Amino acid sequence: MSHSLKNPSSGENIFKPAKEFSKNARIKSMAQYQRMYQESIEKPGIFWAKEARELTWQKKWTKALKWKAPYAKWFVGGKLNVCESCVDQHLSNGRANKAAIIWEGEPGESRTLTYRQLHREVCTFANILLAQGIQAKDRVMIYMPMTPEAVIAMLACARIGAVHSVIFGGFSAESIVDRLEDCEAKAIITSDGGYRRGKVVPLKKNVDDALKKYKKIESVIVHQRIGSEEAPVKMKRGRDFWWHEQAAQVSSKHEAKAFDSEHPLFILYTSGSTGKPKGILHTAGGYLTGTYATCKYIFDMQDDDVYWCTADVGWITGHSYITYGPLANGVTQVMYEGAPNFPDFGRFWDLVEKYQVSIFYTAPTAIRAFIKAGDHFPESRDLSSLRLLGTVGEPINPEAWRWYHSKIGGERCPIVDTWWQTETGAIMISPLPGCTPTTPGTATLPFFGVDAAILDETGQEVGPNEGGKLVIRKPWPSMLRTIYGDKKRYRNTYWDDYPGIYTAGDGARRDKKGNFWITGRLDDVLNVSGHRLGTAEVESALVAHKVVAESAVVGRPHEIKGQGIVAFVTVKSGIETSDTMAKELREHVGHIIGAIAKPDEIYFTPALPKTRSGKIMRRLLKELVASGTVSGNITTLEDHKVISDLQEQLRK
Ligand code: WTA
Repeated sequence: MSHSLKNPSSGENIFKPAKEFSKNARIKSMAQYQRMYQESIEKPGIFWAKEARELTWQKKWTKALKWKAPYAKWFVGGKLNVCESCVDQHLSNGRANKAAIIWEGEPGESRTLTYRQLHREVCTFANILLAQGIQAKDRVMIYMPMTPEAVIAMLACARIGAVHSVIFGGFSAESIVDRLEDCEAKAIITSDGGYRRGKVVPLKKNVDDALKKYKKIESVIVHQRIGSEEAPVKMKRGRDFWWHEQAAQVSSKHEAKAFDSEHPLFILYTSGSTGKPKGILHTAGGYLTGTYATCKYIFDMQDDDVYWCTADVGWITGHSYITYGPLANGVTQVMYEGAPNFPDFGRFWDLVEKYQVSIFYTAPTAIRAFIKAGDHFPESRDLSSLRLLGTVGEPINPEAWRWYHSKIGGERCPIVDTWWQTETGAIMISPLPGCTPTTPGTATLPFFGVDAAILDETGQEVGPNEGGKLVIRKPWPSMLRTIYGDKKRYRNTYWDDYPGIYTAGDGARRDKKGNFWITGRLDDVLNVSGHRLGTAEVESALVAHKVVAESAVVGRPHEIKGQGIVAFVTVKSGIETSDTMAKELREHVGHIIGAIAKPDEIYFTPALPKTRSGKIMRRLLKELVASGTVSGNITTLEDHKVISDLQEQLRK
């Protein structure tokens, strides 16, 4: 049992890891953490180089870091093939026949790939890509369900030096087009479909729709996941190829060639404060080092662990904590295709019991949905194999934390609340499970080598419990290198507030013990079910509809999703509004972006609250949806009646 103490200052419980856990953990005491942290901050190059040396390099670097803000180069002159650390090395370190991926499909079938089998599959697919003419630095889009083939596709790209860009399978054809155009992809890897909540998601069909608009794709490689009438597929001759047919024609042997440490590994699109998603670029050596080291220390991965991260490979969590970090650690992991509530809310716990999962990593939004579904689901399963729990994606509310700790962790498992971002590549702030005292709601302390701080507008560090902007003051290996094709936006977004310092875009405060409490985004980015979504993206989807003249989108607290989406819409003159129209607009946003972006509520209004100079006053709308009234200064508001009318509507 971990024991809890009452924290006199906040009234919150403080949880400390149990002795048995600490004894076997990599970091066993706070004294050890503090000593290592201090050293890592004084000499980051030495700390990170020690971690990097545990990976496979074909040529050693000459310098750990070259930093000319805001551009970092890590392990300068080093050469590696990322795939060798994730796969090949395990063929000769005793793990060849160890399960790398234990996969379960939503309908219930299961499949295990050992490291040796994974190697064979990756090599085969690398040869397929080469046969299609894909070369180093070419961009390859991956749009797949949660199957081992998604991981194989990523690793095969890395193996030949191609740059993958994975798109979450829940995104629409329109979203695919935007991303294809931005990165100018040459090939797409997809599946006939994937199962989600008992239904087939028609992935290949979405790709076909996208390719009506984007013409530069030379090959589409289709994995047959469904293989039945449920997912009818049209193959275009000369462009579309079945994965299994190609596999029969190529060798399963492939020698991994080394690439520069700064070779681009992938581009992953994420939302920012404009309507255009940002292509976050990560590079090989540094990213791998960051994900490897954080898995090792924060998830404390040991050789007999069974690890399961429930994220989708379409998000950064899936990249760092399904594909790269865990495989570089040689762990056994569970991968699941479908929804947490299919056929019911017991599915995750069935999987934990069936595969004896010991480390489990999920999102607060999922935990809240489980709480709502009822305790009988976890209570009727044997969860005693679990030893460590993690969360990511948003601040975890203390109620969800406590439920997770008691109902899932049996009060014995430490919880690591991990703060990080697509941009940071790896976890930045988190407890270390064997030593850090935790309080529900705080991500606690920075990881080794991470110089996190909270600054005020003038660049001064704020005092205890004062709010400010969360920043990172020193470069770290897994940091983004740029926004693909847009250096200016890279500098403006992250490096403009304070010279040479990375601004995360989150607000935070630190308590007297130095724990970081993240308070949420400071920009116009929503966090819906742990997924980032720009209000501007939803707004531009809405105004793309023929009846809409103008719209403003804001977030509101939501019981399960964390944040819900509220849209205020002004229609063009002469058009009648109705509930049917609101429904149509929701569907329209789903069509343009994807189901996660559908507004929860739509309010029609003859005008939006604006300043005299015509700027939409989102602050007022936010306040209005959160509290039902507007209290702050509204003297700059052009037309006060707009607010009182909206207030009336919301009351109804
Ligand atoms: C939020 C997901 C509080 C935060 C890995 C950040 C969190 C954004 C936490 C990044 C956490 C993520 N506590 N907030 N433990 N983890 N966030 O890029 O606002 O999808 O900026 O990366 O999620 O979301 P992204």
